[in-house]
Amino acid sequence: MATLGYIIVLGTLCSVAFSQNVTVTCATGKYPPDPKTKVDTYVVNLDLLPSQRWAELAKAKGPQIKYLVDGFKEFLEDFGQAGKDIVEFLDNRGGDLVVTLPPPFDQEIRGIALAANMNLGEVILYNLFYEFSTLCTSIVTEDADGNLFHARNLDFGLLFGWDVSNKTWTVTERLRPLIVNLDWQRGGETVFKSVNYAGYTGILTGVKPKLFTLSMNARDDASGGGIVGILKWLLGNRNESWIGFLTRNVMETATSFSQARAMLENTVVVAPAYFIVGGNKSGEGVVITRERSTNLDTWTMRNASGWYILETNYDHWKSPLIIDDRRSAAHKCMDKMSQKNVGFPEIFNVLSSQPVLNKATTYTALMQVATGSLETYIQNCPDPCAPW
Ligand SMILES: *[C@@H]1O[C@H](CO)[C@@H](O)[C@H](O)[C@H]1NC(C)=O
Ligand SMILES: *[C@@H]1O[C@H](CO)[C@@H](O)[C@H](O)[C@H]1NC(C)=O
Ligand SMILES: *[C@@H]1O[C@H](CO)[C@@H](O)[C@H](O)[C@H]1NC(C)=O
Ligand SMILES: *[C@@H]1O[C@H](CO)[C@@H](O)[C@H](O)[C@H]1NC(C)=O
Ligand SMILES: *[C@@H]1O[C@H](CO)[C@@H](O)[C@H](O)[C@H]1NC(C)=O
Repeated sequence: MATLGYIIVLGTLCSVAFSQNVTVTCATGKYPPDPKTKVDTYVVNLDLLPSQRWAELAKAKGPQIKYLVDGFKEFLEDFGQAGKDIVEFLDNRGGDLVVTLPPPFDQEIRGIALAANMNLGEVILYNLFYEFSTLCTSIVTEDADGNLFHARNLDFGLLFGWDVSNKTWTVTERLRPLIVNLDWQRGGETVFKSVNYAGYTGILTGVKPKLFTLSMNARDDASGGGIVGILKWLLGNRNESWIGFLTRNVMETATSFSQARAMLENTVVVAPAYFIVGGNKSGEGVVITRERSTNLDTWTMRNASGWYILETNYDHWKSPLIIDDRRSAAHKCMDKMSQKNVGFPEIFNVLSSQPVLNKATTYTALMQVATGSLETYIQNCPDPCAPW
């Protein structure tokens, strides 16, 4: 039997409804990228009290976190009454809200606010806004020997203020300096690894060595997406789990692909989402399409493209928006790559191909479950480049 290792490629593409013409030229020779773009790794010591775990990182990145949150608040306030309500509520009621968060998040968020010198409501907002605004694409794939890899682009900041003079997304620009790899340890041993924006306590991208890999892409649905769930939570219905709390819990506690999958399928959450999960055996790759309360669909690698599975921000049984067809672009480059070339270098090329790579892309992360390796590179898309 071939070596059991897998390759899961998770690409996250964020997108929005503007008209654009996309020509796909699959990138080549992008790996290894400039070492200066490789992000640093910090240890999160789970043996410390929750209020102390983040102190060093939050202190180091405090001014950048504040700068980002200021940009996001300005955006929300311009956006409409619901946005204004959220900002006002969080500014004034942070102290009341933090006590409603489940442990260890309540104490972690207090610790971050203290170390970063920010008010509690701002740190809560920072920990909430990924719930409804990471519009993305994901791929899971395995090589001919059954080695699984998992990689992703995280595009974020779309809609949050286009800077006309230098053609950038304001929030996206402010996010890049916050990207870190985290090595979550207990007793000096790695429990799992993740890519985080410093000060965010949930998990958007992570690998539990030898067991499984996970990423989350936001999903919009007719019921109003995450905003409705978040408003309900703010107004006192706290039955639904924040996405970030669920994914963090999965990384900390699940001990197999099937357990991770079941938790992600069955927990009631504040926002609709796509969860992309890879295991450690051939064929163990799924895309879970979630509504807030129920699981709509679990799609398997074998029923997708056979040796890979790819998810953008659209339900896989529906067509993507014509003006935002990253799905076809990613498929085109995956098929061109072919299964015999699956590995970090070629996967990185796929995720560096426009419009898979675009102005909202903040990072590309590459993971291999068997070795537990995680490499993250900050991405920039020089002109000419698609805005999303
Ligand atoms: C977009 O593509 C179509 C078909 O290839 C072409 O006819 C059209 O001129 C293009 N539009 C722009 C703005 O480039
Ligand atoms: C774009 O402009 C903003 C503020 O105007 C600045 O912070 C940012 O660094 C600029 N980005 C680039 C790539 O020049
Ligand atoms: C929370 O869940 C419980 C049981 O699941 C239910 O009885 C209650 O109505 C829910 N609360 C709200 C505010 O929806
Ligand atoms: C794969 O995961 C299972 C748990 O589902 C674990 O028991 C097994 O040891 C793992 N295999 C390898 C090769 O790490
Ligand atoms: C693939 O889809 C078929 C039909 O929907 C289903 O019966 C089968 O169980 C699926 N296979 C896997 C591996 O999910």
